[in-house]
Amino acid sequence: MMGEPQIGDVIGELLRDTLAVATGVGPRPLVGGRLPRPVIEIIERDDGLINGAPAAHYLDGPADWQPYDHRAVDRVRGETLDIGTGAGRIALLLQERGVPVTGLDTSAGALAVSRRRGVRRLVHGTVDTHVADGQRYDTFLLLGNNLGLFEGRERAPGFLAALAALARPGAQIIAHGTDPYGTRDPLHTGYHERNRRRGRLGGQLRLRLRYRELGTEWFDYLVCSADEFAALVHGTGWQLTDVDDRDAPYYLATLRLADSP
Ligand SMILES: C[S@@+](CC[C@H](N)C(=O)[O-])C[C@H]1O[C@@H](n2cnc3c(N)ncnc32)[C@H](O)[C@@H]1O
Repeated sequence: MMGEPQIGDVIGELLRDTLAVATGVGPRPLVGGRLPRPVIEIIERDDGLINGAPAAHYLDGPADWQPYDHRAVDRVRGETLDIGTGAGRIALLLQERGVPVTGLDTSAGALAVSRRRGVRRLVHGTVDTHVADGQRYDTFLLLGNNLGLFEGRERAPGFLAALAALARPGAQIIAHGTDPYGTRDPLHTGYHERNRRRGRLGGQLRLRLRYRELGTEWFDYLVCSADEFAALVHGTGWQLTDVDDRDAPYYLATLRLADSP
């Protein structure tokens, strides 16, 4: 159909161009063929809402991080899997600290950018496909709002089961989420209400990403309250042991693998 994007590696292309703009190395988007054009991630929601966010933050060093990112990395221990590593900003700091860390991502382009930035251990795939590789972990990170990868009530148990299969005894998950319900904007409150009427969690977003001519398929991304998250975890092999909401509406949820019987 006219105007529909070509399905492709949106994050990979976007991060490659973001790195080129930041370093001045390699082909990069230019205004009028001369001036650097900032790289913008376009996020489309299924009600027609479109947001644009500068992508440069994916490359940020620790000096530009939010306080909760620092608190998250300070809780890391042991063999660590950075799930949805993106441009590898978290993995790079952990490597510097001598933490054995692996970056996992579904985007081949994101992994290429992470590799160029110096991340040594990288895996292309999902938590489900990674189980067969035999590697096991003490800490799983879902930063940069990647609690969203739980998607919703249907996916969460399978996602947690894959993490349990990848876990060493006593493993922990540290996930960064955002409580979406503080808003009074009718565009968002109406969206949450329509979602609930369809049996979905209010902040179970249906999104696709776009960059230049490329788009992703539509996917679910979960933005939920800590209480909703606790309900998703309840009855699985994981226990929600801490919610750090010092930077509300952002929070860090820590889960621990319950002892096997
Ligand atoms: C919002 S970015 C976060 C990047 C990074 N964690 C950070 O804080 O800068 C999300 C990343 O997750 C990756 N991703 C999306 N779905 C994934 C999945 N099912 N498994 C692994 N990675 C995924 C994307 O390709 C992207 O690089």
